[in-house]
Amino acid sequence: MTATPGTGLLRQTARPMLRRGLRAAEAGVVAAFVALVERQARVGRLTPRVEQAIADALRHVATTSKGRARTGSPAVRELVDQFHRLCYDDGQTWRKNTWQGRRTWKSPNDLWLYQEIIHALRPGLVIETGTAFGGSATYMGFLLDLEQKGRVVSVDIASRATPPHPRVTYIAGSSTDPAVVEQVRSMVEPAEPVLVILDSDHSERHVYDELQTYADLVTVGSYVIVEDTNVNGHPAHPQHGPGPMEAVQRFLAERSDFVVDERMHRWHFTLNPHGYLRRIG
Ligand SMILES: C[S@@+](CC[C@H](N)C(=O)[O-])C[C@H]1O[C@@H](n2cnc3c(N)ncnc32)[C@H](O)[C@@H]1O
Repeated sequence: MTATPGTGLLRQTARPMLRRGLRAAEAGVVAAFVALVERQARVGRLTPRVEQAIADALRHVATTSKGRARTGSPAVRELVDQFHRLCYDDGQTWRKNTWQGRRTWKSPNDLWLYQEIIHALRPGLVIETGTAFGGSATYMGFLLDLEQKGRVVSVDIASRATPPHPRVTYIAGSSTDPAVVEQVRSMVEPAEPVLVILDSDHSERHVYDELQTYADLVTVGSYVIVEDTNVNGHPAHPQHGPGPMEAVQRFLAERSDFVVDERMHRWHFTLNPHGYLRRIG
């Protein structure tokens, strides 16, 4: 069967334009809808019946007639953000996670991405700032055991009991203290991949300083992972104030050798949106 002349052109130009137009219109409708819901909540009229009607309406705009998610849709984005805030604010989620019995303040999605990165990269050294209870450091220690190579160095300003692991070294001190930085640097092995994870003080100033301090240690093809870029309304914890996301934006405006790895958004939900920065040069 031969294609009707002009069909290809229609597909290439008119349909994408129509889709973009519909998305723009939908974005306006979703924004108005969200504003209405927030107003109802403020005035105390968010009864179970109203909430059910909202859920039905959102399901309608967020799915195709075949019941599939419309992944590029503003309505879906709003649902994902709502789910993100639920995961962040609910005291039963990341705060309760443990690895081998040790508190680990990460989402399972991100821990899975860590596993993929560590397996693909097989780093000689993982540098973590922000040890807390050692859950994330030992998680990575076990992942390195599976690779049969590599070490983790984890820095924290507070001293807490941390779980021993033969591949993990803990350093007490501030991640930007020159003496600490020197100790970390001395652990880098020439020609071995280095992965950096920033998860300490989440103020913009501190994260930016850490990026300035540690990004140059990251080897090409590896990452600096900036944790908790979701705070300050991206989309969680709007009262936080400028934090990791703002530090990342500043850093990326100055550096062309790092890019956001969009593949790390494939699960739609990560506590580190735009926080997986891959070194490309
Ligand atoms: C979010 S927690 C780390 C969570 C941990 N990586 C995990 O996934 O379970 C942040 C930690 O950063 C530490 N911290 C705060 N300021 C710091 C600094 N300037 N240098 C190093 N650690 C710092 C805190 O003591 C706290 O333990």
